[in-house]
Amino acid sequence: MHIKDKEWWKETVIYQVYPRSFKDSNGDGIGDLPGLISKLDYIQSLGVGLVWLNPIYASPNDDNGYDISNYEAISPTFGTIADFNALLAGLHSRGIKLIMDLVVNHTSDEHAWFIESRKSRDNPYRDYYHWWPAEKGKPPHRYSFFDKKGDAWQYDPATDSYYLHYFSNKQPDLNWENPKVRKEVYQMMKFWLDKGIDGFRLDAISYISKDTTWPVVSKKELAEKYKNDFSYFYSKGPKLHEYLHEMNREVLQHYPNAVTISETPGIEKEEALQFVHVDRQELHMLYHFKGMELGYSKEGFKRPDPNGYSLPAFKKLYTEWNDVFAKEGWGTIYLGNHDQPRMLSRWGNDAPEFRVPSSKLLITFLLTMRATPIFYNGDELGMANIKFEDIQDYRDIETLYMYHFLQAQNEDLEQFIKDQQFGARDNSRTPFQWDATACAGFTTCDPWIKVNTDHAFINKEAQDADGNSPLNYFRHLVQLRKDHLELIYGDYKMYDAEHKQIYTYTRTLEKTATLIILNFSNDLVPYTIPKELHKKQFQLISNNETSLQQEEHELTLLPWQALIFKLK
Ligand code: NOJ
Repeated sequence: MHIKDKEWWKETVIYQVYPRSFKDSNGDGIGDLPGLISKLDYIQSLGVGLVWLNPIYASPNDDNGYDISNYEAISPTFGTIADFNALLAGLHSRGIKLIMDLVVNHTSDEHAWFIESRKSRDNPYRDYYHWWPAEKGKPPHRYSFFDKKGDAWQYDPATDSYYLHYFSNKQPDLNWENPKVRKEVYQMMKFWLDKGIDGFRLDAISYISKDTTWPVVSKKELAEKYKNDFSYFYSKGPKLHEYLHEMNREVLQHYPNAVTISETPGIEKEEALQFVHVDRQELHMLYHFKGMELGYSKEGFKRPDPNGYSLPAFKKLYTEWNDVFAKEGWGTIYLGNHDQPRMLSRWGNDAPEFRVPSSKLLITFLLTMRATPIFYNGDELGMANIKFEDIQDYRDIETLYMYHFLQAQNEDLEQFIKDQQFGARDNSRTPFQWDATACAGFTTCDPWIKVNTDHAFINKEAQDADGNSPLNYFRHLVQLRKDHLELIYGDYKMYDAEHKQIYTYTRTLEKTATLIILNFSNDLVPYTIPKELHKKQFQLISNNETSLQQEEHELTLLPWQALIFKLK
């Protein structure tokens, strides 16, 4: 069978490890590298081929490691460089690759470059960051995602100037206009690649280029051109692709086996191929945010839409994104990560009666689409949102800053806490649930963030022993994807676009076809298989629930049932 543009990273399944919450080895309540190393056999048992590790570099930890103070050092909280070497060797000996987070839109304000930069206006590191001298008045407004006032310019009295920070004021933005900065970044990338890592996930990479004429962005322009969301403005930097191409030329093309996944907030599907089309020599894969925008109301911050999201809209979106990469380039697919709530609570149903089938359905969806699937640790168990009721329980600066921001505007804080139970990032950052003991087998003492009490019944140990658990289903489906090449490379076609409960599609590679039918609802749903498929013979190869009523082409799907048929 001839497959165009075959690549290992299209065939793999990615497992994202949030090291702070994965496994603590020394009882300080924070996950670490020795802890992670002790769980490598588990990761191998999943069948995944690539681990994406969230940041483990030296960091004052304002934003859980996305504020780096030394790119070439490991945070002592996580371990040592020797631990890192052991981790890499342990993964490689199990046939698993490793990508690290590359956080180069910004550093920590405690990075040596920034410490120098803020000392004086003529410091050699001044131009490593974006500064605005106060005698010119206030700089044109830029929005900060993590700031009590939503202001991305921080006044710094030492030099009577403002510096730019799209994220918190402890995360100053690097000035990519400066060739020295770019050179430092490329050297640092080589440092890690030379250690043998297999590539990078590039944090907020769509924001690195700034229009340094600093135009005023009016409210009208923001609304009309950028959907009232600065992400869309930030991702339109004039030299973005020039820089990515340069990064490829200077670094990536010298490491042909390395892979890159770019995080691209603010990017529309029309822009996606510019990042990953082979001819452009930039990056390999990206992940977009469009799916994550579904189901939030236009009011409030991350407030669930009272009508939920509609399945036809979900299907349309994922079909359109499939089409972007149907002929060129390649995408990824995910439904949750460390910046999103738990996928089960968001897209499935975490009520006791639906938790297991809906976890399995979401696993089925991700593992049968035409894109490299990314699973966030714990989603293979069907871990659910913790839904904190008290602001004291939250650890994430996004929640804490937004709370203060809304407080200053006399907004309804009770409503905000309710909304956060749905959308907060901390929902997915709670400790991995290894077993039913007091701290879920994650740590021996106080964890840095509370453990979800549902670990009494949602945990790895229990699921290992249960043939029908989400965990064992996950393992089965990862293998099924590997065994059916059409699930990786095959063309995708959706049926019954307007159906409000069922998502049906086929994946076809030459003469081999697979049909996937997913009941995204709490209801028993009678369903007729699309007519044009009736001439085929159906062989059921996977069913996430034991019972299935079937008569010819008439099915009755159980709530959240996921069926996979081979078509002959
Ligand atoms: C995206 C990361 O995934 C998120 O966790 C972080 O807060 C921001 N970028 C800033 O680095």
